[in-house]
Amino acid sequence: RPADAFLNEPPRDFSRIASRTAMQAAIGKVCSQTGHSWDLPHRELRLTGARMESRNPAHSDEVVALVPSAAVPDVAAAAALAVSSAADWRSQLGTERSAIMRRAAALMRERRDELAAWEILEVGKPWRDADADVAEAIDFLEFYAGQMDRLASPLQLGDYPGERNHRVYAPRGVAAVIAPWNFPLAIPAGMVSAALVTGNTVLFKPSERSPLMGRLLTDILHEAGVPSGAVICLPGGPEIGRALAASPEISTIAFTGSQDVGLQLIAGAAAMPPGRSVVKRVIAEMGGKNAIIVDDTADLDEAIAGVVTSFTGYAGQKCSACSRAIVLESVYDQFLSRLHDAVMSLSIGDPLDPGTQVGPVIDARAKERIEAFIAMGQQEGRLLIRRSTEWPGHFVGPTVFADVSSHHRLAQEEIFGPVLAVMKAATVTAALEMANSTSYALTGGIYSRSPMNLALARERFDVGNLYVNRPITGALVGRQPFGGHRLSGVGAKAGGDEYLPQFMVARVISENT
Ligand code: SER
Repeated sequence: RPADAFLNEPPRDFSRIASRTAMQAAIGKVCSQTGHSWDLPHRELRLTGARMESRNPAHSDEVVALVPSAAVPDVAAAAALAVSSAADWRSQLGTERSAIMRRAAALMRERRDELAAWEILEVGKPWRDADADVAEAIDFLEFYAGQMDRLASPLQLGDYPGERNHRVYAPRGVAAVIAPWNFPLAIPAGMVSAALVTGNTVLFKPSERSPLMGRLLTDILHEAGVPSGAVICLPGGPEIGRALAASPEISTIAFTGSQDVGLQLIAGAAAMPPGRSVVKRVIAEMGGKNAIIVDDTADLDEAIAGVVTSFTGYAGQKCSACSRAIVLESVYDQFLSRLHDAVMSLSIGDPLDPGTQVGPVIDARAKERIEAFIAMGQQEGRLLIRRSTEWPGHFVGPTVFADVSSHHRLAQEEIFGPVLAVMKAATVTAALEMANSTSYALTGGIYSRSPMNLALARERFDVGNLYVNRPITGALVGRQPFGGHRLSGVGAKAGGDEYLPQFMVARVISENT
């Protein structure tokens, strides 16, 4: 392995007392700073929106932070600032920009527990998930830095006497990054750093459900050396996203979120008002309806653990989460009874408590939507488990329906909560057909010890990320480049070597020698 090879940031081991104590101390410190009003992120830009209240999903009356937000007219001023900052930023060498990304990673590493603690409070992630998100953000910064070092030098093409050909990359221009709340540091860090390291200036809208994490990311990038006008943070709601997407100055939109919004962005990007000289490129990651197949040769201990982690991790609020378990009929009843015991033993509670496995969902709107699916599910499937919760925050207990069929809405629509539909299949071929019968194609998994069934799954399971005999969430940067196709998304996989070129134009220069 070369000395500068990329290595993933290891997760904290909270079974060690030193790690646990450090995290408790960070939580204590952060809890003493909640409710503060944050100042403006940029000296050169006044944000005129109201201060956004970021609230703790586990205690909805607790204000975590008051964050300045953008109003629609601010978007034009922000875009002008991004344009005027572009020349300086793109004139730096790619290797200089990658050094800045590495500095940002180092700053995150120094503040790792504190960032995770804010994340626990702002979006209700249990300790391990919050820590993993910070580690993934560090990974994205370092991985894309390494990729840029490689892409910064011209690539010689062909070998023909009397002729010299080179491919060089240049930034596309100003990028808009519209980010989600469920990985509120890692996903924006990935999209923003990819756009920046390749030489674009960036207008960054964190989700209105995680404005503080977006703000912390922006501050770290500035501290690491990204000029204030090269990454501009615009916290706000959907109206800011729409204004950003419509801005004539934007040439690239990187988005992670719902299918509806993603498709609107793609449709909007095709509009060509007079004067526009670029076709906007949209990179969109839009969700999943992911399935795990369990066949009759599977190790059920492993399969149950993998399904439970994949459907209840971060209360099911990952686009990679499992929301369908497709089980062969010969092991179906046994699977259901063991699943029941496993789900009943999960510890639900405040994510501040290190023992919590399932915390709240993000807000009241999300809870209402998930509960509407659960009510509807009772008309479609057989309610097997509905864990109750007596917490004051936005909690939804893990819920499992059995005997669900492919045509049910429970088997087709993304719920984004801890709800699992269990479906029965006669054969692995039928299970694969059921798995592929949604419009999404993001993650999928199979638990099996049959080489023939595994080969069939590798060939036919139509997903962007297929996991064999392991949970289907938690893709690691560099090792499992992540992203789907069909209606799950367009664009190259995040954390893979095809991601950065999407933010650049390739130019080929040929000369006679
Ligand atoms: N990358 C995340 C995962 O794999 C989802 O966005 O779980």
